[in-house]
Amino acid sequence: MQQLDWSNLAFKYRKTNAAIISRYAGGEWSAPAAVREFELPFNLYAGVFHYANSCFEGLKAFRGVDGKVRLFRPDENAARLRRSAAHLDMAAPPESLFLEMCLQCVRENIDFLPPYGFNASMYIRPVLIGVNPQLGIASSDEVLFAVLGSPVGTYSGAAGLSTGTAVLSRNYDRAAPNGTGSYKIAANYATSLHPYNLAHKQGYRELLFLDPATKTHIDEFGSSNFLAIKGNSYVTPLSDSVLPSITNKSLQQVAADFGMKVEKRPVPLEELAEMDEVNACGTAVVITPIGSLDDKPTLESAEITRTYRFGDPAKCGPVSEKLYRRIRGIQDGTEEDIHNWCVEL
Ligand code: PLP
Ligand code: COI
Repeated sequence: MQQLDWSNLAFKYRKTNAAIISRYAGGEWSAPAAVREFELPFNLYAGVFHYANSCFEGLKAFRGVDGKVRLFRPDENAARLRRSAAHLDMAAPPESLFLEMCLQCVRENIDFLPPYGFNASMYIRPVLIGVNPQLGIASSDEVLFAVLGSPVGTYSGAAGLSTGTAVLSRNYDRAAPNGTGSYKIAANYATSLHPYNLAHKQGYRELLFLDPATKTHIDEFGSSNFLAIKGNSYVTPLSDSVLPSITNKSLQQVAADFGMKVEKRPVPLEELAEMDEVNACGTAVVITPIGSLDDKPTLESAEITRTYRFGDPAKCGPVSEKLYRRIRGIQDGTEEDIHNWCVEL
């Protein structure tokens, strides 16, 4: 077992024992192999470097109260990666290979898997990139699939940011109408880098994007989905430009299990004033409370036209807390996994 400060892992790169890789060429995937060095040779003409022929996933493995190791819904990540790759017209690993490589990655890096009780986990990052040399704009026909694993604690977009603060992005879109917002492709994150930097420089932890077609409805945060509690309802945006979050899908089920009404529908911006609790949700952020959200004419502007407040920025509201505890309990083995979401190592 590694001797790490398990309570303060943050969400950052750490060299671990191994990454698992498989290459696709000539219609076949190679047998997965563990590599100890993460610097691999690539042709500089590989599509990934020029045209963002790249998509990826994020899921977590948890060491449970009972000592068992659980992966949370890896089948969903396998399916979403296939959907993203299909949009890039690129080969994707079958679900069985995806799962095998995720499990192998956890096994190879088991001494980096945080112990139970530190609210930490192993973040698994499957990434699929186009590697054959090319000059023209084209989909890749040779692909590298790598599964990386890193111990993580709490996600914070950048170091030293106040928890729970967010700002609206009015003058930058994450995705286009009819574009790629619903796919987990690298290009979407490149689009959000500059506006995120602007927000982070002003101390905001999160950036909330609006629907790119009309700018009247809420889409999602750059790192996560938007979820609000309004009375007995769980409210989350229905939009073609939002990533279908596996955490959000699971939380909707948990909310329904608690007898809440689940409302997945377009959410007008003004409705923010009526929300009791607002959170970001996703694999990395789990459920992170948003205590306040500033609306500004532009991200560059010093003017704040309106501030929405939703409660303590450092603590989930009571309903969100209940949802958080249930989902984290299922992941840790302290709550019954009634929907069979976890895959044991
Ligand atoms: N939205 C965006 C833009 C994300 O990057 C993520 C992270 O994966 C999510 C939402 C949350 O998705 P999931 O819960 O599947 O991790
Ligand atoms: C995840 O939650 O898995 C993501 O990919 C988001 C990213 C901010 C790490």
